[in-house]
Amino acid sequence: MRGIVLSGGSATRLRPCTKVTSKQLLPVYNRPMIYYPLNTLVKAGIREILIIVAPEQAGHYLNLLGSGRELGVKFTYEIQDQPRGLAEAFIIGENFIDRENICLILGDNIFEDDFSAQITEFKSGGHIFVKAVPDPERFGVAAVDAAGKVLSIEEKPSAPKSNLAVTGLYIFDSRVVEVAKQIQPSPRGELEITDLQRWYLEKGELHCSQVAGEWIDAGTFDSLLKAQIFAKEKMQDKMIL
Ligand code: TTP
Repeated sequence: MRGIVLSGGSATRLRPCTKVTSKQLLPVYNRPMIYYPLNTLVKAGIREILIIVAPEQAGHYLNLLGSGRELGVKFTYEIQDQPRGLAEAFIIGENFIDRENICLILGDNIFEDDFSAQITEFKSGGHIFVKAVPDPERFGVAAVDAAGKVLSIEEKPSAPKSNLAVTGLYIFDSRVVEVAKQIQPSPRGELEITDLQRWYLEKGELHCSQVAGEWIDAGTFDSLLKAQIFAKEKMQDKMIL
């Protein structure tokens, strides 16, 4: 299993703090934000990690994270020159993925949970991680039956079929590269990761687990503040980075 941290984007909701830097380099208590998703991958045993960044900040990421050698991991870097959507990670990452299974995590997602079991046991298909939230209409939403089978996936629905948000951690087999190349941009001009999940869902190959513990998407000022406090109080003993 290889890993990708998607750390580009425009972070308009955090302006002006992100006018001259990347959201995922902002501090979350005592570490840059990207340390948290990186920690999630490294703790789950992933050793080869591609970090996708916007061109303006590529040098900062390289200076901050280097080769990964001291951690016993290997970091590779790629540029996303425009924020064309989450699914583009698999097109940019095609050579890196190289027919292996791939775990994508968003650079602004902070998880308390440990995903070693699901990552180690993954064989094929797609796997998403869902969490009950009070405001599902802000996220991709999954309807799931009593046995944990995914019934539907919708992107930011106005009338959500459940309160289960699809979090920013996804595992796919290597077919995802070709599927990502085939999908068309949505009305908002992005290659949607929901469309990739739907491809696996229609084949009956999309699996799902519930996230235990806290999950914070640190993309707004209020969620960033919540992440800071959470990181101070609950994450310190969980970090190996
Ligand atoms: P978002 O929070 O959806 O987008 P954003 O970071 O550009 O912020 P805003 O909505 O405030 O303008 O992105 C989720 C994560 O994915 C975040 O870590 C940035 C990253 N991302 C990319 O790297 N490339 C992309 O094309 C997109 C859409 C997001």
